[in-house]
Amino acid sequence: MSAEIKQVGVVGAGTMGIGICEVAANFGQQVLLFDLNQEMAHKALNSMEERLKRRAFKGKITQDQVKDIMARIEVVDDLAKFNVCDLVIEAIIENLEIKQQLFQKLEVITSSLALLATNTSSISITAIAAGMKNPSRLFGLHFFNPAPVMKLVEVISGLLTDPEHLALGKSMCKAWNKVPVLANSTPGFIVNRVARSFYGEPLKMLQEQLADFVQIDAVMTEAAGFKMGPFKLMDLIGIDINYAVSQTVYESMFNDPKFRPSLIQGEMVDANTLGKKTAQGFYNYLEGAAKPQAEYVHSDAQFDELTVPEVETFFSAMFSQFEYDKRKWQGDQVIISGCILQMSDGRLAKTREQEIKAPVCLVDLSFDYVNSQAVHLCFSPGVDTFMQNRIVALFNHMGKKVMVCDDQPGLMALRTMVMLINEAADAVFNGVCTAEDVDLAMRYGVNYPKGLLAFAEQMGWAHVAMTLENLQQWFGDDRYRLSPYIRNQL
Ligand SMILES: NC(=O)c1ccc[n+]([C@@H]2O[C@H](COP(=O)([O-])OP(=O)(O)OC[C@H]3O[C@@H](n4cnc5c(N)ncnc54)[C@H](O)[C@@H]3O)[C@@H](O)[C@H]2O)c1
Repeated sequence: MSAEIKQVGVVGAGTMGIGICEVAANFGQQVLLFDLNQEMAHKALNSMEERLKRRAFKGKITQDQVKDIMARIEVVDDLAKFNVCDLVIEAIIENLEIKQQLFQKLEVITSSLALLATNTSSISITAIAAGMKNPSRLFGLHFFNPAPVMKLVEVISGLLTDPEHLALGKSMCKAWNKVPVLANSTPGFIVNRVARSFYGEPLKMLQEQLADFVQIDAVMTEAAGFKMGPFKLMDLIGIDINYAVSQTVYESMFNDPKFRPSLIQGEMVDANTLGKKTAQGFYNYLEGAAKPQAEYVHSDAQFDELTVPEVETFFSAMFSQFEYDKRKWQGDQVIISGCILQMSDGRLAKTREQEIKAPVCLVDLSFDYVNSQAVHLCFSPGVDTFMQNRIVALFNHMGKKVMVCDDQPGLMALRTMVMLINEAADAVFNGVCTAEDVDLAMRYGVNYPKGLLAFAEQMGWAHVAMTLENLQQWFGDDRYRLSPYIRNQL
């Protein structure tokens, strides 16, 4: 089918539009580019050429490729010239009325067979199509920034979208070597809906003063295995943009507490501390500003003994590679110097200690316990300094840094992760997308190391369910309610 789409039109020469031009031109298609601001379009094209030349200089592409890509893109001064386009992608300002007006023009200018797509990140496809004579022609092609680099494209159906157009959009994305996922037009589509918890839960922890943002970022990256911490990422996205998306999703979901925005972000928007772009967000980006450091604990103590379960579990796997002379035993759980180590399940360490009548060290969640740089722990009251030192020493010995927090339900990574999993599950339960696509979306749209549902399977659905139920009980907040999709897995 891609052979049929020879001529692509892109409206809007901003960050996204110019990236989309590159994707199509790189594939060999002719591209017409229109922007209300002609000068802006030419400037954007020039900077794209500079960027491509730098890539050629580094040997990533050839000089001929740069020439070919540039030769295929033409800036036009009149939208009427889009009459030759087989596919038009809109990437203009995020405003419903302006997008509606544009598509009302485009459906008249283009042939009735041409595909019409919007790159909106938050507006309903159904609403944009509402003013068109033939709303079945419109669908969403939601690229991620930077479009030439990011593999994911959400292919979004409006209520009236023609399934054939959607299928053609999807195969076009495949031909561009992208990873397309299908989604229904719902608030936040897939990625912006599911990822809300990656910001919302750490912001809630910050508000509850469980740790500072540097510590939470360190736990989420070094112990849990995310590529970037939530606070650094919010600074990069822009606190105002991130807050606006959270508000839109929350309001569109009829104030569902799962999506409740954070007062902290609201205050930061008022103070104009918007992240990297204003040189001050959670972090300070001014030259010479001190770089805040996370806190680690370290111990040179010897440890007495380590017991590991005979049958390796998801969590105990991290000890399997570890050899330490004779003092490694097999038992039914992980025990270090008399202290039982368990994965958190959303209850306090204190509660666990009372239940099993033994000192407990709770370990936070990791995508990859074996290879993580750090572990994040908390201790029940019965774990004395002697035991703490030995536990810390053992992890140090295994080459892992150790972060310790006060006793709190779900620690940090587990608490965030079960919320992410719950939302991924709920998106599938509510027909937004398939289980396969939600996992692809989070891997390729926001670079999560694993798909959330596949990871839940690995750690055990029962553990996910138990953690959420314990969190709901602890906080008395409906935001932690379990998705029926998860109940179905038990
Ligand atoms: N920036 C991102 O990370 C990102 C990611 C995914 C999707 N999006 C979506 O893509 C769209 C564009 O975002 P962006 O960041 O590239 O914006 P941008 O502000 O960088 O660029 C928008 C461009 O559209 C032009 N424009 C505005 N109104 C126009 C009109 N009526 N006709 C023609 N041109 C017009 C402007 O002159 C500007 O050059 C938005 O809908 C946004 O929500 C953005």
